[in-house]
Amino acid sequence: MKKKDNKNNTIEVKEQIEQQPSRIFNSMRNPNTSAKIGIDLGTANLLVYVEGEGIIFNEPSVIAFDYYTGEVLAVGNNAEKMIGRNHKGIKIVSPLQSGVISDMEAAKKLIELALKKAENTDIDITKSTCLICCPSAVTQIERDSMIQLAQKLGVPDVFIEEEVKAGGIGAGLDIYSSNGSMVIDMGGGTADIGVLSLGDIVVSESIRIAGSYFDNEIINYVQYNHGLLIGKITAKRIKEVIGTLRAQLPEDKTTYANGRDVLTGLPRRIELKQSEIRDVLRPLFIQIANSVLKALQATPAELSADIIENGITLNGGCALIDGVDEFFNKQLGLEIKIAPNPLTAIVEGTRILLKNRGNYYVRPVD
Ligand SMILES: Nc1ncnc2c1ncn2[C@@H]1O[C@H](COP(=O)(O)OP(=O)(O)OP(=O)(O)O)[C@@H](O)[C@H]1O
Ligand SMILES: [Mg+2]
Repeated sequence: MKKKDNKNNTIEVKEQIEQQPSRIFNSMRNPNTSAKIGIDLGTANLLVYVEGEGIIFNEPSVIAFDYYTGEVLAVGNNAEKMIGRNHKGIKIVSPLQSGVISDMEAAKKLIELALKKAENTDIDITKSTCLICCPSAVTQIERDSMIQLAQKLGVPDVFIEEEVKAGGIGAGLDIYSSNGSMVIDMGGGTADIGVLSLGDIVVSESIRIAGSYFDNEIINYVQYNHGLLIGKITAKRIKEVIGTLRAQLPEDKTTYANGRDVLTGLPRRIELKQSEIRDVLRPLFIQIANSVLKALQATPAELSADIIENGITLNGGCALIDGVDEFFNKQLGLEIKIAPNPLTAIVEGTRILLKNRGNYYVRPVD
């Protein structure tokens, strides 16, 4: 389409604009493209980031298999809905326990299926680089199993970084500066505490008390105090809806809990108060606060000085529990900030770490 007007170049620009979308489309369709992939394989949630695409998967780390054939029946949200409701023909697996892989085959299958979401970009995983995030306290054997997992998927180039570091970056902290910062990442399986400076972790602590542990304690509380057996999904909902750590509650909100009566075996519904759940959660958070104190006591003096100025950033899904900032502020006497994106901060941080692989001293250029 060659049109002419009195300014020749106007037509050229128009053609470029028209062609642009199809050129992008072609490059996306180009088969066998290598990619940079960041994976936050959490106990509760799996998130996958693909460079140029963004977060392509953000769903529970749960997978359901046909017990007899081994065929995958559901992953993520759909598999989570089956928890506690399955018959003997369905096996539901959470491939991570306390932040580490406990079922390698299920973990591999889960990531494989998550990566299928990136299919329209024609990523060739066998030519890609993959970063997997892990809790800082994992052993070398546990790290090796993460690498082994990526290798089983056929990824030739894989490296591991600590979740606390990726989470700090994803929460917007400048971890590459000489100004120290502290991050507490409270997820589903572990609470990880890290002091970051000059691009890496200086001090770290980890405790295997986090979201799933809270859920189990809620199950125990409801069983012993209300004579009702409730499931994990119900406990998780109770924690998310009325869980709080506030010392003073403006109103003692309630929610329902459906379950099976311990004595009669019949279905029953009860009301639970926010103050009850707070009393279940507080002792558990005091244990996390004690781990934070341990990390603070091991922190070099100059970094302690920075933490007074900068405060502590909270990351991970349990940073969304009501009053968690007030609680840590009272326990530690330091300013507490909740990350703007506590559930996605880690995988968002992989974007920078993939760019700046292994270089702890240079702030990456975006
Ligand atoms: N709004 C909310 N209020 C309270 N808790 C929440 C909320 N949203 C999510 N959570 C809890 O956060 C936890 C999941 O957090 P996250 O996704 O950070 O964990 P994870 O990264 O999978 O686990 P980990 O890092 O320990 O292996 C779950 O226990 C979930 O119930
Ligand atoms: Mg996590």
